[in-house]
Amino acid sequence: MMRKWLVYAILITALFIKDSQESALRIIGGDEAPSKFGFFHVSLQNLTGHHVCGGAVVSDRHVVTAAHCVQNAEPQYIKAVVGTTNLDEGGNSYDLESIRIFNDFNFSNKTNDLAVIKLAKPFNSNDVEIIEIDPTNLNENDEVTLTGFGAREVNGASSRLMHVLELTVFSQETCQYAMRYTRPVDVNMFCTFTRIGEGTCHGDSGGPIVKNKKLVGLVSWGIPCAVGFPDVHTRMAPFFDWIQSQIKQF
Ligand SMILES: *[C@@H]1O[C@H](CO)[C@@H](O)[C@H](O)[C@H]1NC(C)=O
Ligand SMILES: *[C@@H]1O[C@H](CO)[C@@H](O)[C@H](O)[C@H]1NC(C)=O
Ligand SMILES: *[C@@H]1O[C@H](CO)[C@@H](O)[C@H](O)[C@H]1NC(C)=O
Repeated sequence: MMRKWLVYAILITALFIKDSQESALRIIGGDEAPSKFGFFHVSLQNLTGHHVCGGAVVSDRHVVTAAHCVQNAEPQYIKAVVGTTNLDEGGNSYDLESIRIFNDFNFSNKTNDLAVIKLAKPFNSNDVEIIEIDPTNLNENDEVTLTGFGAREVNGASSRLMHVLELTVFSQETCQYAMRYTRPVDVNMFCTFTRIGEGTCHGDSGGPIVKNKKLVGLVSWGIPCAVGFPDVHTRMAPFFDWIQSQIKQF
């Protein structure tokens, strides 16, 4: 019962805010990202330079992203572009050598939505800044920063400019309730939600979520695009050891 009321309260608040701030709302909300984010946020692109998903630089040769972004992809058909927040200006493009999907990734329920990509050659150190993975778990109300080249409107093309959005970690229980008709929100996932008009859209998947300059999550799934439901992300802490071992061995 409590959960139900919480969800109603949130939805009513969201509707109220929508009415009162209509002019300020832009999907996905947020501002243009400062250039520092371009050094660890990777744009995974197809061979014609279309942005497909985001990712994060975790070593001089490895990128983490969401498994659903690269599950059936051949490495030779994807490029990793990094070093810029403007896809039409600056940055460098790198070839991929291989892709490793987390073993227990399940496409339909999105559990363990995580993959590590190895580049054909190491990044040029001028283009990147390796982001550390935070081994500590996230808590409700923690403040996190999301960046993405995702679309700015429903069914829109992805954005050529990276945007940044400050969010808070949403109640796991309320999120599970809000998403109950979609799929279960499990312990290796977390949610963010502020209001309608702020959230993820097509092309944001795989993108890094950062807290105190450390990587805490990757955008995984949701009901696009900021229509009033939480966004669901892969937690990094439970996968800390797995990612470290991939960086060493793969
Ligand atoms: C890249 O993606 C765009 C947009 O989805 C598509 O139109 C284009 O055909 C794709 N290019 C290749 C080489 O797959
Ligand atoms: C989702 O898929 C995983 C891996 O296949 C499985 O272990 C898990 O039980 C599934 N979870 C739910 C809620 O269906
Ligand atoms: C993936 O998850 C779905 C939904 O929970 C389940 O029905 C299916 O068996 C799982 N697939 C695998 C390969 O475990």
